[in-house]
Amino acid sequence: MNTAICEKIIREFTLSNDDLVNIAASFRKDMERGLVDISESSMKMLKSYVKLPTGEEKGDFLALDFGGTNLRVVLVRLLGNGEYEILKKVAKPLVKEGEYNFISKEAKGEDLFDFIADMIGEVAEDRGKNYLLGHTFSFPSMQSNIYNASLITWTKEFYTQGVEGEVVNDLLKAALKRRGIKNVEPVSVINDTVAVLLASAYKNKNMQIGSIYATGFNTCYYEDKVDGGMVINLECGGFNRLGINYIDKILDETSAYPFQQRLEKMVSGRYMGELFTIALTEILEKNLENFTAVDISTMIADNSDDLKDVAKIMESKANVTLSTDELAYIKALAEVISLRSAKVVAATYVGILWHLFKDGEIKEQKIAVDGSVFEKMPKVQKTMADTLKILLEDEASKIELVLENGGSALGAAISCVLANN
Ligand code: GLC
Repeated sequence: MNTAICEKIIREFTLSNDDLVNIAASFRKDMERGLVDISESSMKMLKSYVKLPTGEEKGDFLALDFGGTNLRVVLVRLLGNGEYEILKKVAKPLVKEGEYNFISKEAKGEDLFDFIADMIGEVAEDRGKNYLLGHTFSFPSMQSNIYNASLITWTKEFYTQGVEGEVVNDLLKAALKRRGIKNVEPVSVINDTVAVLLASAYKNKNMQIGSIYATGFNTCYYEDKVDGGMVINLECGGFNRLGINYIDKILDETSAYPFQQRLEKMVSGRYMGELFTIALTEILEKNLENFTAVDISTMIADNSDDLKDVAKIMESKANVTLSTDELAYIKALAEVISLRSAKVVAATYVGILWHLFKDGEIKEQKIAVDGSVFEKMPKVQKTMADTLKILLEDEASKIELVLENGGSALGAAISCVLANN
């Protein structure tokens, strides 16, 4: 293996404190430009037509969670006082090898929504009872009210035909009709970041920011200067005012949608594994199968003297046997890709806080985050907290990053109540 190239790539992924300040500042600037004139921002900054819940919302609602590798339909009972119960849940993958694939280029929107309608029918099997349904749809959608959201463009390597440009809840309604399900009425669509924020704000006070840090990456926040106050879905995976290195460039050029989702391609779980694979291809000078974010996590967590887990992955996936010194380089590479991601993500949160509090004092608050990278990748949460300290100094103690697990369903249920307000 070529350790000189490895060292060089590690340097390319290393960020200085000045880089972090610049990222936070340019993120803030891009948001503020977008608030004045959206064509001036690299982010879509989409209106979501919801305000924050009080925690007293009540009732039984159906929630559809669509946007990751699994579809979920959940019956949620909101009890008020920030409490809730899950009454019923059905989950199915969107792709089942050898059986079906609802996200490929050949997949048709109608079949996808029929599949979803069947799952809804299973959960709403008591046809004598009517349900309102909230839909967490985790793709950039142009909204004109809380119901009417049309998909602008697929992201996260989804391709299903016949959905882009359409009002997603109309497609869902048509499928429910085809399936004869008359007791379910879709009333809202929210992004998954919005769902996380609503879910967390239902249970906690002082929340303004919600984020997904998983297969994809995106953040929303409560903006009081837009239409009397509403949550804005930044679609900040598209943020592109930051320098990229040559590995990022190779990834972008070979991806399904070059030039798009530049930030997401640097930080999210879906792409971290690819960055690592591309870097290893350069270092080992051979073609490789894809490494994943899980491989990166396993390598970072390997503290054994002989780095046996790193060795095992390299043997099985790259078919190479390396010395312990070489394995240490590989581990350092995995770590630097993940640390860059955590630092950049935290810096974007600071950009939002700088916008919200201008040059005044930051208000004490929690930032809700959901997603496998935040939850499971070793050292990510610690690195994010350290980055907040670097950028906010003493004020960092006012910010707490909290894991909002499974917020998509709860948020969708809450949005049904907000839709009726
Ligand atoms: C992608 C989508 C965005 C979503 C994020 C996390 O960035 O465009 O809408 O919030 O993934 O799932």
